Amino acid sequence: MLNTAIKAARRGAAVINRASFDLDRVVVTEKQHNDFVTDVDQAAEQAIIEVLSKAYPDHAFLAEESGASANSHDENEYQWIIDPIDGTTNFIHGFPQYCISIALAHRGVVTQAVIYDPVRNDLFTATKGAGAYLNEKRIRVTKLDRISNALLGTGYVAGSARALDEFLKMYAIMGERSQGVRRAGSAALDLAYVACGRLDGFYEKGLKPWDIAAGALMITESGGIVGEFSGESDYLYKGDVIAASPKIFGQMITLLTPFA
Ligand code: IPD
Repeated sequence: MLNTAIKAARRGAAVINRASFDLDRVVVTEKQHNDFVTDVDQAAEQAIIEVLSKAYPDHAFLAEESGASANSHDENEYQWIIDPIDGTTNFIHGFPQYCISIALAHRGVVTQAVIYDPVRNDLFTATKGAGAYLNEKRIRVTKLDRISNALLGTGYVAGSARALDEFLKMYAIMGERSQGVRRAGSAALDLAYVACGRLDGFYEKGLKPWDIAAGALMITESGGIVGEFSGESDYLYKGDVIAASPKIFGQMITLLTPFA
């Protein structure tokens, strides 16, 4: 199943890479304020689903652009959770920070994950119980024990004035307590970066399951922890996520619990 997911991710990447040579031709639609979809997101998603549904005709889908498939009900055994371009705004501008994110959930538990950065050709994979890998090399979260030495990632979902105010307050606190907070614009890639040690921690509120599912497995399989702002583990559908190496996670929770 992981191999099929990799094949699907590469098929999606081919669509994205072709389009990236001529960004002027990309058709952009604004779903809501500062939330975009392009014809490339749609074509890449179609290419990904085509590979997966050919291999597994009974499986269900939850995908950013086409939503949940008709057979996607609770008792469904397998469900693929897909973001064809996580970081669509970056893609539209040619800012080279976006990825394809594909996760497979079995009875609600994510068991396989692929995050593919087609710009750097970075292929992150994870299988539940079998570790996480970057280009076939085992990856682990950092061993850092003080947040004052940490580089963190975050993101912001365009929303209410209250959400913006909260984001800025969190940013001020975390920026002050760490060595820096980056907002690179692709939550799935940020999570993969925590898994491989390029970041020490990540937090964001208001994410969707397709932003989180693959990256969360990547983190737990590389020795990190993922939780809600309250520390609970019901983050996938709630959408508020803190992810980090174990010691940094504890310190992030302490600082961010007031925003739970
Ligand atoms: C977005 C990115 C961004 C995050 C937003 C997401 P999309 O995904 O992950 O980093 O801050 O919340 O919606 O829309 O580009 O697939």
